[in-house]
Amino acid sequence: MTNQYTPSSVVSGPPASRWWGCYPELRRDTLGFLLHCQTYGDVVKLPVGRVVELLLQQRDAAMYLLNHPADVKHVLVTNQDNYRKGPIPPVESRIFGQGVLHAEGDIHHRQRRLFLPFFHKTHVTTYSTFISGMAQTRVAQWQDGASIDIGHEMAHLTLSVIWRLLFGEELRSNAGLIRDTISAGQRLIKIQYDSILACLIPLWIPLPHHRRFTRGFQIIEETVLRCISERRHRSEPQDDVLSLLLTASDQDGRPLSDREIRDELITLLLAGHETTANALTWTWFLLSQTNSVWERLLSELKDVLGDRLPEAADVPHLRYLKMIWDESLRLYPPAWSLHTRLAHKEDRLPSGAILPSGSWAFISPWNLHRNPRWFPDPTSFDPERFSDEATRAYLPFSYIPFGAGRRGCLGESFAELEGLLILATIASKVRLSLIDGQAIHPEPGMTLHPRTPIEMIVRQIDLPTSHPIIA
Ligand code: HEM
Repeated sequence: MTNQYTPSSVVSGPPASRWWGCYPELRRDTLGFLLHCQTYGDVVKLPVGRVVELLLQQRDAAMYLLNHPADVKHVLVTNQDNYRKGPIPPVESRIFGQGVLHAEGDIHHRQRRLFLPFFHKTHVTTYSTFISGMAQTRVAQWQDGASIDIGHEMAHLTLSVIWRLLFGEELRSNAGLIRDTISAGQRLIKIQYDSILACLIPLWIPLPHHRRFTRGFQIIEETVLRCISERRHRSEPQDDVLSLLLTASDQDGRPLSDREIRDELITLLLAGHETTANALTWTWFLLSQTNSVWERLLSELKDVLGDRLPEAADVPHLRYLKMIWDESLRLYPPAWSLHTRLAHKEDRLPSGAILPSGSWAFISPWNLHRNPRWFPDPTSFDPERFSDEATRAYLPFSYIPFGAGRRGCLGESFAELEGLLILATIASKVRLSLIDGQAIHPEPGMTLHPRTPIEMIVRQIDLPTSHPIIA
């Protein structure tokens, strides 16, 4: 690993079509293409092509892929005032509205200030009992020898957890519909990211993939709006996000409208369960591939937990589990690409490259985490990379599964607590092995998910089980 680089203002890039820019390559094999771009230097120019230039009325428009952590830090932190989020596909705007994920400027600042205490790492620990309890309930439903679609199981679990966090109650119905709608949304977002022309077709045109998404999404919105209305008529506040939003006010001191509350709730619902579900799915897959890692994890769980369910206070002692989690997020970062950042003014990066005004900085955790300059032998699964000593040697900003700067993940502490408690609870009960003959490939959509379901066999293990199941 080296942090040496030669500043240069000359930026090169792969050959691109005059009319379509790099989109055909990106569409053909997004993840492979990004890795290939590492060979072009610290900053790689990806022209968007004449068609997009004409639509944007901007000559020589391009994305600039940042391969060097120092440049990443510059854009996300040091000079973040020069950047805002780049264009967002219409279906994403439809889903997230003006929630904290997409808002800009003062509105974003206010929304973040509202949420920060709620998502602070000391406050999120209060949720540990219900997270471990829900994981225990789920794993208790798996029969010894059964085969499960682990992605489906993890998505169901994290959806139940986030629903409880947002609305303070169990998700009673609609779980299947929410999951199907998210899958349809994933497909649609991918189509719109891959093709600017697809972005121009309004969602009300009844194409089959439009219909699949809009039908389900309407029901999700109605359910969320109903929860808001019911809570407005109840006086007692609860420790959940809905109560937080109902007592908040806007910049003029007015209470938030149903529409504003809806935007925040749907943003957190989607940002907060799909990512964690995929992180867990990839972790189970990686664990199933490496016996020695699983054995060492089991021994840690026995030492720290015995026959107890894990709590927040156990997390600092589950050191090896945390190394596994970090390494899994390195290899399969659910947020495989950050939103592109649009440069207001021309900017000279630490690597020497100049980003023209109006260009888009493209930062991909997938690409950074698999660059052999920062992570030798990048495709191998090795939790030791995240031992205290090894971590100290890494270049800052070479590892950014949660992004960074004031747009970094709001739910990072919650996601980590949730991920570790679910892994500890389930790994104490069962061993999961991959059913032979499956080809597992990552697919980049709204999040990095497996292209086809990952089927696993459940084997109960012999850790003592004296505690009752918490419903
Ligand atoms: C393993 C799980 C997760 C991963 C890998 C992840 C990753 C990320 C990343 C990379 C960003 C920055 C996007 C960008 O800069 O373009 C982000 C933003 C965000 N995340 Fe997460 N996230 C996870 C879980 C969660 C959870 C559980 C929540 C909420 C409960 C959440 C809420 C958000 C929000 C609201 C933002 C937008 C923050 C802003 O723009 O101010 N995330 N997440």
